[in-house]
Amino acid sequence: MSLIRLKIDTFRNIDSAQLLPGDGLNLIYGLNGSGKTSILEAIYFLGMGRSFRSHLSQRVINTDADQLTVFAVMQHARGEDKVGFRRSRNGDTEVRINGDKVKRLSVLAETLPIQVITPESFSLLFEGPKSRRQFIDWGAFHSDPHFYQAWTNTRRILKQRNQLLRDGSSYSNIQFWDRELVRYAEQVTSIRNAYVDSLNELLKGIIGEFLPRVSVKVSFTRGWDSKTDLAQLLETQYQRDLSLGHTVSGPHKADLRLRVGNLPAQDALSRGQLKLLVCALRIAQGKLLKQQSDKNSIYLVDDLPSELDADHRRLLLKQLTDTGAQVFVTAIEPSAIVDSLHRAPSRMFHVEHGRVTQVE
Ligand SMILES: Nc1ncnc2c1ncn2[C@@H]1O[C@H](COP(=O)(O)OP(=O)(O)OP(=O)(O)O)[C@@H](O)[C@H]1O
Ligand SMILES: [Mg+2]
Repeated sequence: MSLIRLKIDTFRNIDSAQLLPGDGLNLIYGLNGSGKTSILEAIYFLGMGRSFRSHLSQRVINTDADQLTVFAVMQHARGEDKVGFRRSRNGDTEVRINGDKVKRLSVLAETLPIQVITPESFSLLFEGPKSRRQFIDWGAFHSDPHFYQAWTNTRRILKQRNQLLRDGSSYSNIQFWDRELVRYAEQVTSIRNAYVDSLNELLKGIIGEFLPRVSVKVSFTRGWDSKTDLAQLLETQYQRDLSLGHTVSGPHKADLRLRVGNLPAQDALSRGQLKLLVCALRIAQGKLLKQQSDKNSIYLVDDLPSELDADHRRLLLKQLTDTGAQVFVTAIEPSAIVDSLHRAPSRMFHVEHGRVTQVE
């Protein structure tokens, strides 16, 4: 699956841009502030309905405009799909696939799986459990059709449970919800667990190539003690939950542990090594999706050359192109990418003050 046409209107400093990306590696280059990251952000918007940079998606609308639109023609094994996304300043959002309005943003994620690697996203992966959980859940969502519903139900019940706790409800009132919660939590957990197991198989090979001298261990923690039954735990922790006004343990606390020896990866690795680890995680995730459902992800790698030496740039670019997927990478100087490739990029785009031109 790849984008064969991309149209971006009034998105950040891009007034209007049209790109005809190639199947393989697309290189986007230009000076600081020219609009490179904005192009990746626009593609991400189309797949996720939000930005990877700002929580306030209204901020990405061009300051002189009332709305943004991103439109793409996607090519896949069964034919072509036209995907359009429009967001207004008042928050109104319209998503269309082949002209039909789509209500759930998750449909976008199914249609257009995206792997993004940015200088921000890579530090995020090591800052808090939330982004690591999102990482697992992206994969769980794509690998098991039951995940979305199970996770939506878990979240809904947790919200109700927390409200009851804040209202000071007795445990007998909460117990009914706990039975439901445990049922969905177990489903969510077993899908996540299976997902991380399959991911680990692929990950080992890629980490071995990127970081041959480091032994990284990746494991899944489910969010509550591995030896304790959740129903029992919810009951014994009721007094504590009640005093805090929220549920302390459960699938909402699941995490992906990344360790080197006895240390968390972020304490044991250099910045360049951390970047490579994040790249390995994303590439493994995309490869697993391809194996499981024959869908290619689109890889967005912002500022690929930064923090990597020439050998590692080459290794990373090789891994990315070997996936056979469509890849968009940005760099300030094109040579920082071109010199590390054994074949010329599929397409090159130069960005200058928000204007995008294809370079031969
Ligand atoms: N809502 C907006 N409307 C208009 N311009 C914006 C808006 N938001 C950001 N910009 C501007 O868009 C420009 C492009 O930003 P972008 O992050 O895409 O640049 P870049 O090419 O990735 O730069 P760098 O090499 O520094 O990463 C910036 O100058 C920024 O100030
Ligand atoms: Mg940038």
